[in-house]
Amino acid sequence: MKVTKAVIPAAGLGTRVLPATKAMPKEMLTIVDKPAIQYIVEEAVNSGITDILIITNRGKGIIEDHFDRAPELEDRLLATGKTDVYDEIVSISKLANIFFIRQKETKGLGHAVSCSRSFVNNEPFAVLYGDDVIIGDDPACGQLIRAYEKYGKSAVGIKPVPEDQIYKYSSLKVEPLEGNLFNCTDMVEKPKTKDQVLSLYSILGRCVLTPDIFDILDNTPPGAGGEIQLTDAMCTMARNVGITGVDYTGKRYDMGDKLGTLQATVEIALRNPKLGGPFKEYLKNITKTLLD
Ligand code: UTP
Repeated sequence: MKVTKAVIPAAGLGTRVLPATKAMPKEMLTIVDKPAIQYIVEEAVNSGITDILIITNRGKGIIEDHFDRAPELEDRLLATGKTDVYDEIVSISKLANIFFIRQKETKGLGHAVSCSRSFVNNEPFAVLYGDDVIIGDDPACGQLIRAYEKYGKSAVGIKPVPEDQIYKYSSLKVEPLEGNLFNCTDMVEKPKTKDQVLSLYSILGRCVLTPDIFDILDNTPPGAGGEIQLTDAMCTMARNVGITGVDYTGKRYDMGDKLGTLQATVEIALRNPKLGGPFKEYLKNITKTLLD
C-alpha cells in the first residue's frame, strides 16, 4: 500500500533547549529563515506524503498559525508589491493537508504516536520526529518509504553514533541486507551498560511503520524515563517480524539540543542561495580570530 500519511510528533517539553522553549515550541526554532518544522513538512511532501498529522499540546498554537493563511499579512505584501514573499507565504499553507491533534499528557514519543491511530486508519505511515531536521538531495523519508515498499516491513532511519554517546540513544542489532539497508532484529532504548549495547547504530529521526504498531503500543508499559517509548514498541516488532534499517543519506540536525541548533544554522545558511556567499565570507573572517 502506498504511504501517503505522515505523523509529526511535536508535543515534547523541549527541556534541553530551555529557556528558548519556555513559551515557544522547539519545533518552531528558526533555522536561517524558516522554523524547523517547515523543513520537516517539506521533506515529507517531497517524499510523496499528502496528509500530515502534527501532534501538539498546550502552547503550541503557533505551529497551527504557521501553516494557516495570514490574510492581513498577505494583503500588506500584495499592496506593497512584495509578490515573491507573498507567493512564498501563501505556499506554506498549501504544502499538504495538515491536521492537528493534542497529546493531552506528555507521556512519551510512543504515547504521542498512539494519538494518531484514527488518522492513520490502518495504513502504513511515516513518522518524522519534530525536532530532527534532515537535509539532503534525496529526502530521508522517501528513502524509508522505498525500503518499506521493497521489503514490506516497517523501516527505521539509522545512523552510527559515537561510542560514548550511544547511552543517550537507542542501540540496534543489525545485519547487512544490501547497500545501506540492514535487517534489524532487536533494539534497546538508552542502554545502561556496555553489555546492553547491541551496535553503535541508533534510530535517528524517521520511521515508516505498519499499523500493527498501535496494538503493540497499547501493550507497551512505560520504559526509560517513565515514558511510553516508541523504541520499545518497535523492539517488539523487530523481534517478531524484523524491521528494515536504512542508513539514510542526508545530514541530521538535532533541534532538541543547543549545539545541534547552532550547527543547523551555520550549515544550512552556507547552503542558502542568497545568504550563503556573504555568510561564508563572514565566517572566514571570524574564524581567523579563532586560530591559537
Ligand atoms: P524528545 O524526547 O527529544 O522530546 O522527543 P522532549 O521530551 O521535548 O525532549 P527533552 O525534554 O528536551 O529531553 C522526540 C520528539 O517527540 C516529541 C517531541 O516533540 C520531539 O519532536 N514528543 C516527545 C512528543 O510529541 N510527545 C512526548 O510525550 C514526547
